[in-house]
Amino acid sequence: MVDAIVVYSTRSGSTGRMAKAVAEGLAEGGLDVRVYDLRRNIVEDFKEELEASKAIVVGTPTHDYMPAYEVNVLLSKMEELNVKGKIGAVFGSYGWSGEAVYEVQRRMKSLGFEVVAGPLRIIEDPDEDGLRKCRELGLAVAKRVKGG
Ligand SMILES: Cc1cc2nc3c(=O)[nH]c(=O)nc-3n(C[C@H](O)[C@H](O)[C@H](O)COP(=O)(O)O)c2cc1C
Repeated sequence: MVDAIVVYSTRSGSTGRMAKAVAEGLAEGGLDVRVYDLRRNIVEDFKEELEASKAIVVGTPTHDYMPAYEVNVLLSKMEELNVKGKIGAVFGSYGWSGEAVYEVQRRMKSLGFEVVAGPLRIIEDPDEDGLRKCRELGLAVAKRVKGG
């Protein structure tokens, strides 16, 4: 049984590196985690896992002042799934304005997610400190899933 899903899009890899560290934090917190890159997997591939998981953590870069296209698709698909009451969090890399994470968080809240951490934004490629913050985000979500 999957406890948590990290699902993200990345064009130049920075949000992808954040995703890996978030997943490490979730696993460190004792959760069974799956990670999906939306440029490699379509939502249909893991729809059942999305519905079954207790937490969904979404990663998006900011592109043209918006979330990545694939993340917008994910959010639209989640409107058709039963995600109400799930635990959620958002992270992403950005260059200068970085509003995508706030938009995704807003939409997740309106889907009924209980957002328990973040949004975590990092400018361009995450350094060691940034990766530590990503692991902490994962750990915070795991603690909430475990009832802390
Ligand atoms: C076409 C394009 C548009 C972008 N638009 C924005 C933007 O509107 N605001 C911003 O903060 N960063 C913007 N960026 C910068 C990216 O968010 C930044 O490079 C980020 O690290 C990319 O994450 P990724 O490596 O996960 O794809 C843009 C980058 C590209 C290539």
